[in-house]
Amino acid sequence: MAPRTTLPRDVGAAVLAAEDAVAVAIALREGLYRLASPADVLAGWLARRAPIPPLWLRRHIGSASASRYLSIVSDAEALLDELLGRSPIETVLDLGCGCGAMIPYVQRRLPRRGRYLGVDVHEGCLQWCRKRFAADDRLAFRAPPLPAAGDSACGYDLVLAKSLFTHLMPAEAVDCLGAIAERLSGNGQVVLTAFLFDGLGAVPALPNPRQDGLVRHRYRCRPRAAVGFDRSLFAGWLEDAGLEVQESRLWFWPGHHAELSAQDVVVCRRRGARAALASAAPTRA
Ligand SMILES: C[S@@+](CC[C@H](N)C(=O)[O-])C[C@H]1O[C@@H](n2cnc3c(N)ncnc32)[C@H](O)[C@@H]1O
Repeated sequence: MAPRTTLPRDVGAAVLAAEDAVAVAIALREGLYRLASPADVLAGWLARRAPIPPLWLRRHIGSASASRYLSIVSDAEALLDELLGRSPIETVLDLGCGCGAMIPYVQRRLPRRGRYLGVDVHEGCLQWCRKRFAADDRLAFRAPPLPAAGDSACGYDLVLAKSLFTHLMPAEAVDCLGAIAERLSGNGQVVLTAFLFDGLGAVPALPNPRQDGLVRHRYRCRPRAAVGFDRSLFAGWLEDAGLEVQESRLWFWPGHHAELSAQDVVVCRRRGARAALASAAPTRA
């Protein structure tokens, strides 16, 4: 008998039905959060809270909680200061920009002639960012695909991919690393986060393995909700893309935590690029 190369029709139909059901459930959840958004705005106004993205967009990028959003942003800003030091940043590509959590930080660092491009697949996030940051003509937003590598004349000084690789399937992650490498300026840096694990050990927060356990998911029926990669596999992808790791903060690896409480942070340059002009903070991990 010839080997079967496709799923049997009934299994394929069941997979599609499960994906449809998940999409409907997510749309319903988004609708409920949208309905609750006015109450959240009122609560924020009464608490004299700084303006932040609406509830339903905060939920899309992670947690709906306003205090959690603010503390994650403040931790990320402090980390970027530490990792990037005083390196000049004139051009920023923010992949999976979400509702622009890192934009206020970028705005403070960009010179007047600087430019920032935020890219996301979520139309709601893009619309909100365009409206919220309309006054700043250094900023632009778009859905994929990325502009062709040659279009970004001298490339980007900083590519951010914060909590993006945690949602990409392996082939997408490989493509994305290649696209990043092509778009870095000579001395440009990429700061990315990921769930990296030791493929030989247990990874309780990502219980669903594939590819011999080198790729793992939080949920079988929603694989993109949280994806992790074996650290050696990911290191090979970085190398194949022509990227060299400068610094890592291994806060998830080796992956023995019960929850997805922290992500690993990896800073890379194109292989052979000059060392940072400015002093970088000492490595903690
Ligand atoms: C967890 S959120 C992180 C958002 C933002 N970087 C932050 O740290 O607040 C992940 C974002 O990646 C976006 N995303 C997922 N897959 C993508 C893809 N293939 N290309 C671009 N954006 C993607 C999602 O829509 C979502 O806004």
